[in-house]
Amino acid sequence: MAAMVVSGKVSLFIKYSYFKLIQNNIEQISFIFFMQDTREEVIQAWYMDDSTEDQRLPHHREPKEFLSLDQLAELGVLSWRLDADNYETDEELNKIRVDRGYSYVDIIEVCPEKLPNYEVKIKNFFEEHLHTDEEIRYCVAGTGYFDVRDRDERWIRVWVKKGGMIVLPAGIYHRFTLDTDNYIKAMRLFVGEPVWTPYNRPHDHLPARKEYIETFVKKEASNNAVGAAA
Ligand SMILES: [Fe+2]
Repeated sequence: MAAMVVSGKVSLFIKYSYFKLIQNNIEQISFIFFMQDTREEVIQAWYMDDSTEDQRLPHHREPKEFLSLDQLAELGVLSWRLDADNYETDEELNKIRVDRGYSYVDIIEVCPEKLPNYEVKIKNFFEEHLHTDEEIRYCVAGTGYFDVRDRDERWIRVWVKKGGMIVLPAGIYHRFTLDTDNYIKAMRLFVGEPVWTPYNRPHDHLPARKEYIETFVKKEASNNAVGAAA
């Protein structure tokens, strides 16, 4: 009898070890697959867990669920990897600015020591909101999390590090927080005179929100329906 119990435990342990081995391999394969896109050395995206722990923690699911930057682009979130050591003279950045009409630029540092009214602002940044224009951020130092909603309302965490530039489309619900390093230095860009107004959720009646739904939610749903019927 005792031998059977021991044997059962050993069997369970072997099954658990085998499961962990497969799980780790899947994570490693996913990591290698995603790292082929060099942007993902400075911008990574994953689905968040539902924990209410410190917003500055990574909040990975278990097991981790990464997204590619192409999947982010399907939600309208664009991304580049740029030379952050030379952002003042970078021709690639200049070309993006010309192509997309980003005439305005400034630099913001977010950390307790440098941002006036830090506690209030960091709280506001993490309120779910949208803008009626693109939110364009280029991380030239430090790191930060930009969280965006997917089509099914799940939170995707987008970790942007030095050299990563992202564009959140007008009308997408999102929020921002520092990570546990508590520091980001970011370039803010804009078409014309900047408007930073956040519209906290819900603001579904705004034209920018309706346009976002038409462009990135309904179109994808109808594409999937056509694909399923074909
Ligand atoms: Fe925002």
